[in-house]
Amino acid sequence: MSSTQKNFRVEPAREEDMPRCMQLVLNAFGPFPNFDVIGGGPDSEENRRLNAERHLRGYKEHLEKYPSVSPGVKCVFTDPETGEEKIIGFAEWFIWDRERTEEEYMVENYILRLEWVDDLVKRKVVLDAMEPEFATRRKLMKGRPFGLLCFMCVDPEYRRRGAATACVKYGMDRCEELGIPAYLEASEEGMKTYKTLGWEVYEGHGEELTFPPMIWWPPNVTKE
Ligand SMILES: CC(C)(COP(=O)(O)OP(=O)(O)OC[C@H]1O[C@@H](n2cnc3c(N)ncnc32)[C@H](O)[C@@H]1OP(=O)(O)O)[C@@H](O)C(=O)NCCC(=O)NCCS
Repeated sequence: MSSTQKNFRVEPAREEDMPRCMQLVLNAFGPFPNFDVIGGGPDSEENRRLNAERHLRGYKEHLEKYPSVSPGVKCVFTDPETGEEKIIGFAEWFIWDRERTEEEYMVENYILRLEWVDDLVKRKVVLDAMEPEFATRRKLMKGRPFGLLCFMCVDPEYRRRGAATACVKYGMDRCEELGIPAYLEASEEGMKTYKTLGWEVYEGHGEELTFPPMIWWPPNVTKE
């Protein structure tokens, strides 16, 4: 499964790609609230390695129960002159490909449970800060199958060339194939691109959230 646009190629991230992918994540989300705890500190080789391990563990946990799509997705740029390839974008698509019980959908993936954070007070503060977004997602999607986009980020040097668009479309295509909606919690920077791709901001009780929910309904899925 891959999709190509200009000199960008989107495909599943392999284990050996993860430290570079985590470098992109640590730099893009470093300034976000609570990311010092979520990402475990600034970008460094050690921190890339630790985050890669955590995210891979999260993928394994997800794939054991929902095997359709491996969550980590990389965007590779090929230099048209030299042919050199570089990972310049990353995203995670958690696709729940079947109905889930309440017991199942009330538990976030390992990556969002922050179990590795030793400081329990800090961990609780961050989980409490994220809870309104989680609660809205659970309320809206409940146990229905859907795809969740997280950690969408692009190397600043390669932004505004369609790399994020390609990563988002990759998951939208998977959702369309499965006949399920797609969901994300939008940063201010990302929202316009998602709107351009046909995503709608949820106008219910999500307005007060730091990262407003957005939903995309594939043409073959009835909007609810
Ligand atoms: C948000 C983010 C992922 C966008 O990445 P990106 O690769 O620049 O996104 P795209 O290039 O696909 O789209 C960005 C804009 O460039 C435009 N664009 C795409 N290709 C273009 C091209 N070849 N030339 C000019 N503009 C182009 C798009 O139309 C879009 O415009 P819009 O915002 O007015 O709709 C990136 O800014 C980022 O990593 N931000 C920090 C982390 C973050 O906020 N992530 C989102 C979490 S929800």
